[in-house]
Amino acid sequence: MTIRLLSGKDALAYQTLRLLALKENPAAFSASYEDEVNRSLDDVAARISPAADGSVFMLGAFDADNMAGFVAVIHPQRAKLRHCTEVAGMFVAPMYRRRGYGQALLQAAIDRARSIAGVRQVKLGVNATNTAAKALYESAGFERFGIEPDALCVNGKFFGEEHYLLRLTPADSGSITAGD
Ligand SMILES: CC(C)(COP(=O)(O)OP(=O)(O)OC[C@H]1O[C@@H](n2cnc3c(N)ncnc32)[C@H](O)[C@@H]1OP(=O)(O)O)[C@@H](O)C(=O)NCCC(=O)NCCS
Repeated sequence: MTIRLLSGKDALAYQTLRLLALKENPAAFSASYEDEVNRSLDDVAARISPAADGSVFMLGAFDADNMAGFVAVIHPQRAKLRHCTEVAGMFVAPMYRRRGYGQALLQAAIDRARSIAGVRQVKLGVNATNTAAKALYESAGFERFGIEPDALCVNGKFFGEEHYLLRLTPADSGSITAGD
């Protein structure tokens, strides 16, 4: 298994796997298959290439040359949010599941987030019914801090979204969590 940054050259493999993800696991993503099926490869290439300003990059997990999974890391560039990161859009192809790909992708995303100067936390959102993903995130140390009811509507069915956070550095005296 290899984990590496995706670039525009991965567009075809990514788009194939991404459309499979949206078709097979519609409740796991806020985007729908219809949103993305007509995207040109040039558009996909631009989207998966690391942003020049560092605001987003994608990691892929590979079995030899085959893309087995991917995840996005988002790093807001606004000064007040630069200590935060988010992982999103995690997917491992069904034939590679329960073989450690998801864990390796998540750990690589966390390691990269940790390596960005000033970053102190990683957040993510997950469908409340997604027991596999929640077990993965919890095994990596993420803690749930809230639930948004009815956050997602898929084919007329509403799903809650659970919000998780991984603190990379302990809260310090500068942390303010309540009013005043
Ligand atoms: C969630 C997902 C990424 C996990 O990928 P994976 O490669 O199978 O995960 P791993 O093999 O690295 O599993 C790591 C740990 O996660 C947990 N886990 C993974 N799949 C699980 C399952 N089906 N049931 C319970 N726990 C599970 C286990 O703790 C596992 O460790 P273990 O195998 O030692 O018990 C994958 O199932 C997937 O792509 N699902 C569809 C898309 C999705 O839900 N994405 C997440 C959106 S928030």
